Amino acid sequence: KRKVIIDTDPGIDDAAAMAIMLFSEQVEVPLITTVTGNVSLDKTTYNALRLLPLFGKEVPVAKGADHPLLREPVDASDVHGETGMDGYDFPEPNEDLLLNETAVEAMYRVIMESDEPITLMPIGPMTNVALLLREHPDVKENIQEIVSMGGSTSRGNIGIYSEFNYHVDPEAAKIVYESGLPITMAGLNIGDKALLYIEDLEKLQKANPVGDMLYHIFLRYRSGDGKVGLRIYDAYAAGYILNPEMYTTQKTFVGIETKGEFTSGASAADLGNSLGRTHNANVLVDVDGEGFKEWFVNSIKNLILN
Ligand code: BDR
Ligand code: CA
Repeated sequence: KRKVIIDTDPGIDDAAAMAIMLFSEQVEVPLITTVTGNVSLDKTTYNALRLLPLFGKEVPVAKGADHPLLREPVDASDVHGETGMDGYDFPEPNEDLLLNETAVEAMYRVIMESDEPITLMPIGPMTNVALLLREHPDVKENIQEIVSMGGSTSRGNIGIYSEFNYHVDPEAAKIVYESGLPITMAGLNIGDKALLYIEDLEKLQKANPVGDMLYHIFLRYRSGDGKVGLRIYDAYAAGYILNPEMYTTQKTFVGIETKGEFTSGASAADLGNSLGRTHNANVLVDVDGEGFKEWFVNSIKNLILN
């Protein structure tokens, strides 16, 4: 089984991505690391620890960076709620799953101890991953791929061209994109093509307690009524790991803007190769939206709760 470390800031769409990954038979998740992003580090860690008992899963959790590399944190509680996962009455967190190690220490240990290369799935700002690569460059030898939710080939969602995760910590994203590791960019542009509507959410609600939880938090996500289609960004990254056939990809040079006056954190994805640079990323440029929706809803419907 492919081993995937989830680096996350739950986060409503993070919760969906975690559910999809943790119940998949195709992958094993040996570690979850948390980061400051949508809400503070304490809240994202608390959220990870209360999703796990609901899923009936015992995956170790390590706490990561409490602020971006060089900048002040930027909050997204307007999108995800004060708690980061508003809308559902969660069980108590399972504090026993919290490791004494930091995210960087735990990632380094798990990656170096693994017999096979590990995939990283950062679905928050990439601060932890950047710190890992900077402090332990030898870790690269045992990383298969980084599948990152972030960036965009078109518009942004926090700046004109900047997406939240890369905008919050552009220096971290830059380190990762310049690392030489295989990186897949699952950006905002995919969200426009695979929207979830109220009828999809209702299918989730009827399915099982995990689907019911997702239904309730999705209703609090942005518009709040499911009438405007929901873009469940982090789940598109999970979809690429588990079912890549749904996507069209393009090998592309991606530069991360750290200095732009209006473009901080923008992912300059050179799809037309105007710079003539060698590609450093595999960019998701399109998705079979209906296929994704069906796959996502069915994955939740068919998950086996112990
Ligand atoms: C990304 O930002 C966060 O709000 C979401 O969880 C997702 O990871 C989308 O821009
Ligand atoms: Ca996220």
